[in-house]
Amino acid sequence: MKEFQSIYKENFEEQINSLIKRPSPIFYEMEEYGKQNKIPFLSIASAQCLNYIIKSENPNSILELGTGIGYSTIWMLEAKKNLVLTTIDRNEKEIIHAKKILTVNYPDAKLQFLNQDILEYLRKAENLFEFDFIFIDHDKVDYPEAFEICKKKCKPKTILVFDNMIWHGRIFLENTNKPSDLAIKKIWSELQNYEYEFFSSGDGLVKIRL
Ligand SMILES: C[S@@+](CC[C@H](N)C(=O)[O-])C[C@H]1O[C@@H](n2cnc3c(N)ncnc32)[C@H](O)[C@@H]1O
Repeated sequence: MKEFQSIYKENFEEQINSLIKRPSPIFYEMEEYGKQNKIPFLSIASAQCLNYIIKSENPNSILELGTGIGYSTIWMLEAKKNLVLTTIDRNEKEIIHAKKILTVNYPDAKLQFLNQDILEYLRKAENLFEFDFIFIDHDKVDYPEAFEICKKKCKPKTILVFDNMIWHGRIFLENTNKPSDLAIKKIWSELQNYEYEFFSSGDGLVKIRL
């Protein structure tokens, strides 16, 4: 029998990325900005996948936890005209930078940029039921509390999408006490109560419906 050959070869991600069609040159510019400044952003394959999920789920209002350079945001805005989107990040420099690019490129979207701590926002929020879709991409140690709050405060059928659910392979480590590893493992154990969809693009996306 032929030996099993893994698809995961060196430079494979770069090759895959070269197959992904960016909607406009600004996408390449944002990727370059992230790489040059060593700021993490959603993997290109996952970003396209997120774009596809938005197109198929057709939400009207989105909450994003973790704006970063706004790369995931731009792929979401590209998926649907006139989106109402709130995005939160504690990093003032990046959120100002993202706001500049996105408001110029998507003048029809209703965008709100909040420069604050995500857990503080979620703990106080009284309007989470207004969102149809939440994209979760902030500190992994904060995922479990963010998930708990969403379960309590969001309306039924709200879609949650979590990034980094492979956590660079660390979810498979058995003996780890690293708080971020434990946090992602906790989310995985909670997911067993849902019909989840796992997308193995990039560092792994998971989609659930509350
Ligand atoms: C992985 S980056 C987000 C990347 C972004 N989604 C993109 O694709 O460009 C995570 C971001 O979450 C922000 N962040 C992490 N924990 C946070 C918290 N508790 N409150 C506010 N921002 C947080 C960081 O400042 C960082 O910009």
